[in-house]
Amino acid sequence: MTKHFKRYTVTSALPYANGAIHIGHLAGVYVPADIYVRYLRSIGEDVIFIGGSDEHGVPITIKARQEGVTPQDVVDRFHYIIKKSFEDFGISFDIYSRTSNAIHHETASDFFLKLYNDGKFIEQTTEQYYDEEAKQFLADRYIIGTCPLCNNEKAYGDQCESCGSSLNATDLINPKSTLSGNTPVLKVTKHWYLPLDQYENWLKEWILEGHKEWKSNVYGQCKSWIDQGLQPRAVTRDLDWGVKVPVEEAEGKVLYVWFDAPIGYISATKEWAKQKGKDWEPYWKEQDTKMVHFIGKDNIVFHCIIFPAMLKAEGSYILPDNVPANEFLNLENDKISTSRNWAVWLHEYLEDFPGKQDVLRYALCANAPEAKDNNFTWKDIQDRNNNELLAIFGNFVNRTVVLTHKYFEGRVPEPAEWTKSDREVIEELAFYPEKISKSIENYRFREALNEMMNVARLGNKYLTDQEPWKTIKTDEKRTKTILNLSLQICVNLSILCEPFLPFSAKKLCEILNIEQQTWKKAGNGDLLKPEHPLNPAQFLFEKIEDDAIEYQIKKLQDTKKANEAIEAVVNPMKPIISFEDFAQCDIRVGTILEAERIPKAKKLLKLQVDTGIDKRTIISGIAEHFEPEQIIGKQVSVLVNLAPKALRGIESEGMILLGEDHDGKLVFVIPETKINNGSEIK
Ligand code: 2FM
Ligand code: ZN
Repeated sequence: MTKHFKRYTVTSALPYANGAIHIGHLAGVYVPADIYVRYLRSIGEDVIFIGGSDEHGVPITIKARQEGVTPQDVVDRFHYIIKKSFEDFGISFDIYSRTSNAIHHETASDFFLKLYNDGKFIEQTTEQYYDEEAKQFLADRYIIGTCPLCNNEKAYGDQCESCGSSLNATDLINPKSTLSGNTPVLKVTKHWYLPLDQYENWLKEWILEGHKEWKSNVYGQCKSWIDQGLQPRAVTRDLDWGVKVPVEEAEGKVLYVWFDAPIGYISATKEWAKQKGKDWEPYWKEQDTKMVHFIGKDNIVFHCIIFPAMLKAEGSYILPDNVPANEFLNLENDKISTSRNWAVWLHEYLEDFPGKQDVLRYALCANAPEAKDNNFTWKDIQDRNNNELLAIFGNFVNRTVVLTHKYFEGRVPEPAEWTKSDREVIEELAFYPEKISKSIENYRFREALNEMMNVARLGNKYLTDQEPWKTIKTDEKRTKTILNLSLQICVNLSILCEPFLPFSAKKLCEILNIEQQTWKKAGNGDLLKPEHPLNPAQFLFEKIEDDAIEYQIKKLQDTKKANEAIEAVVNPMKPIISFEDFAQCDIRVGTILEAERIPKAKKLLKLQVDTGIDKRTIISGIAEHFEPEQIIGKQVSVLVNLAPKALRGIESEGMILLGEDHDGKLVFVIPETKINNGSEIK
């Protein structure tokens, strides 16, 4: 039996305030969340929709430093840019807050203190790199050095972007502080950890047993985290930007950004309640509240494991009922990337397509990466607009309204007898609201959108089949009936399309001269009374011409060219070497015999390789690119005389050669045809 909820708390990931918003954000998080809450409001539920900017974290401090401004300057700038983009696209937050607000600092600080006083944290001292000149501990991103796996000299303390391996700062060879350029020293520091290992059994039960209905991509990721075993997680950092840790012995420390950010949902609710004179607590503490977090797949662990463990530790909060995370959206078959400007920015889209917010919302929902990564193309947006929104939805509404003006002075005509085909249409119409509800309530927004369009298809076909432009010559009564029913379908559309296409719904209501109706009215063939006057017809959608699309494609091609030019400068050819130098590299053909993941090392695979000389262990930073079972039996190229190196306590003897494109995609360098293991590559 489905549980009935009295109220809904719907949150959407708080974007970092160090960049603008692009189509990937919209498709992955904000369009689905907005559809969901608009629908809930339409069915009359008590719902709050929470959004806001995530204004802490190391990348914001790095950006500020690069620009020579303060972190507050950075977040002030982007907070308003982001907020405006959401408003422009009709993302209907009840509040769009920010984590640099005082109410948030207070809420996050109190939350920490409650857990601290209740003894929910463990304290650990570790050695961390410290810059003696800058007089501060260094976040991993502030340390660069040589990657022990691929020898890239510009690897960061948490990750090598060249080979994709995740690293500890102490793994780096020849580490340097990016603040002073000096070699950092190791210094003891104390931090507070949430012992996630203690929540493992509870999480197993709550998610793996209790939430089998979660989307398979979400459930699968949770299972894989839990199965790998959970570790205590530090919730404090040595940094000067963020929420101060509210205990005396934590001078100079702040809360880890992923500890304070989700508490931002609570702070924003408090702020909203204050503005509205309401009580915030039921939205977070009553069992009859349904809480849903909309996020992208990179946020799953934080919203399904860490934040719930925090809430559980605190003790007085409810837990999310669902976390319908989406996968990623690609753009023209390439990964969206802010640093490479491979994105469609919302503000730029609106400059080029003013007033066409719904077209983008529609295309992004129709292509939403609900179950797997998906692709956005400009050609698709043109097709969706011209062949669906315009040819079906817009065409139907426009023909209906224009003909009503032409034949009946723009007044809703009185219907005569319904024919059998009219009755069939009315019956089918009655079916849709529930169908669409079901899809939305199960977070299947693509399916819901398609069903909504089926209502437009139904109307369009009815009008085309009934040909009122012909019946008007012989049978006025019949014409009145046809247009009456068509207009009733238009009202239904104005209700059912509102969650998806709010701007068009508003326009449609203007044309029909009605207020926005609620969901429970839909499914009815009797919503407009005879003689009700319509307003003049206006186009809901316009054709998108080829040249507008070609312009966008050209813009992306120019971006690609510029990136390639930058790549050649950033990644120039290495100095010339002699043949003798090259000949020192002993590269052989080998076969991967075994491959397995290494616990707690997300990016590493442990391989057993037959090099023809021997069978040996090689650690390779490819776990995010290949499944172990997929590469067993593969012939690869192996640098066999690389000095052995211990990684995560395992000795790695050699290196597998890989090709990497500018997007970080990795491919094996393999012999063209099968050849004996041990064959030399020269
Ligand atoms: O991934 C991100 O953009 C994070 N700023 C999301 C935070 S969601 C929440 F916890 F605030
Ligand atoms: Zn590397």
